[in-house]
Amino acid sequence: MESTSTQPGDIVRESYSARSQEYTDLLGSMTSTHPSDRALVSSWAAALTGPVLDAGCGPGQWTDFLAECGPAASGIDLVPEFVGRARMQYPNRSFDVGSFEALDAAPESLGGVLAWYSLIHHRPQDIQTPLAEFARVIRPGGGLLVGFFEGATAGTFDHAVTTAYRWPMAELSRELVTAGFEVIETHTRTGSGYRPHGAITARR
Ligand SMILES: C[S@@+](CC[C@H](N)C(=O)[O-])C[C@H]1O[C@@H](n2cnc3c(N)ncnc32)[C@H](O)[C@@H]1O
Repeated sequence: MESTSTQPGDIVRESYSARSQEYTDLLGSMTSTHPSDRALVSSWAAALTGPVLDAGCGPGQWTDFLAECGPAASGIDLVPEFVGRARMQYPNRSFDVGSFEALDAAPESLGGVLAWYSLIHHRPQDIQTPLAEFARVIRPGGGLLVGFFEGATAGTFDHAVTTAYRWPMAELSRELVTAGFEVIETHTRTGSGYRPHGAITARR
């Protein structure tokens, strides 16, 4: 009998679909990003060889930024509304509806994957599935850059869109290593008015 149970990805898709306009207005442009993040993504992207995938691209602002930094860049996202907006806003970039759980890319075909705050809704017990997919499609020596909510302890919090998970740096780093990556750099940023930020660059 066909299963009709709701999967975590369905909840993420429906939650962002319902608030895609609000998200885009608030966070869907590079002016809402931190200068240190732009510097990190730009230097990471400039060192890549081969195309880069913006995995969980949302409204597409980082995909466009990546392409400006040098590599051929494309974006995928679960949410059709985001992909529609991204195509309209950045008509000379490539965007598709897709899922990390089954990327439409050949093994070792990419120079890198950017997962900027796009793994934040994965339950810790599910995180190896997208990481293994990233490891499959990134060429040996290629790069992965993950941005996420950092925390001293692992746990969930009430993200404005749907349940999200914060990760201690060491724990997420270990998950990357388990998936076949070498951690190259870790970054944290804390301050008043926002949740602690973490970023990890890793090599396949
Ligand atoms: C917090 S938003 C970040 C969007 C964008 N990277 C940014 O920085 O504005 C998380 C994004 O990840 C996407 N996402 C979450 N899980 C996904 C999955 N399994 N496959 C594809 N996209 C996913 C969501 O649809 C959403 O657009």
